[in-house]
Amino acid sequence: MTPADTPALILGARSGIARGIAVALAKRGHPIMLAARNAQRLEADVSDISIRHSVEVSAHDFDVLDVAGHQSFLESLPMKPGIVVCAIGVLGDQEADAGDSAATKLIVESNFLAPCLFLERVATQMSASGRGGHIVGIGSVAGDRGRAKNYVYGSAKAGFAAYLSGLRQKYAASALHVMTVKPGFVRTAMTEGMDLPGPLTTDAEPFAERVVAAMEKGKLVYYDMRWRALMGVITHLPERIFMKTKF
Ligand SMILES: NC(=O)c1ccc[n+]([C@@H]2O[C@H](COP(=O)([O-])OP(=O)(O)OC[C@H]3O[C@@H](n4cnc5c(N)ncnc54)[C@H](OP(=O)(O)O)[C@@H]3O)[C@@H](O)[C@H]2O)c1
Repeated sequence: MTPADTPALILGARSGIARGIAVALAKRGHPIMLAARNAQRLEADVSDISIRHSVEVSAHDFDVLDVAGHQSFLESLPMKPGIVVCAIGVLGDQEADAGDSAATKLIVESNFLAPCLFLERVATQMSASGRGGHIVGIGSVAGDRGRAKNYVYGSAKAGFAAYLSGLRQKYAASALHVMTVKPGFVRTAMTEGMDLPGPLTTDAEPFAERVVAAMEKGKLVYYDMRWRALMGVITHLPERIFMKTKF
């Protein structure tokens, strides 16, 4: 059981899912450090979460693409985090971005390379502390199989999932727990305006609550049940059949 006073660092804190996770952790008594680009935009969340849940909440400027600033960012935090959640993601627009090397690079660096570089530092720090903790990385079901609709984003998420799997194995014998989250459709800014299938879509708050409950139970990879079943089928389709489907 993670002590309630374990500080949590939430990266990409303006994300709908991240905000839900911050609230779910605050409810349990965890002090919260919200990190995002333009941290002044987090002011309302800082006061709302701290007042509602009577925990310490602070906001911190963080751009994951500023790799040179990763270490100084970690050192600047008021508390050493024992829970780190990475909710950073850039979906892009596969059709519009196709062949655009700057757009493709941004998607790969934002979803894969830069979060991995940051989490590597975090894992080293948490492991060296001897207290362990939790690292929660938010990937996507899009990483389970490359699809024409979003294969740049999907392949970056696949890389992120493979990275988290390796990190989990590296620290398996220690108190550091690494969990991969694979959302399907969640109603957030990322999916705004999309025509989402009702039975496969969830709101950010209940999804976030399930993620935190899974983290507390020490789950390794978290999907919502329906998505686990669906992706089980999709990933097992032979390539010749899959390439002709409209998934
Ligand atoms: N919603 C879904 O259906 C769904 C499905 C599968 C996976 N996911 C994943 O779930 C996670 C959370 O997404 P969401 O749905 O909550 O969408 P979101 O609201 O669009 O959140 C994505 C967040 O990533 C942040 N971000 C992007 N680039 C960054 C950078 N360079 N440095 C720091 N932060 C950066 C954005 O910050 P700004 O606020 O500064 O733009 C934004 O708050 C993402 O990893 C996403 O890929 C979501």
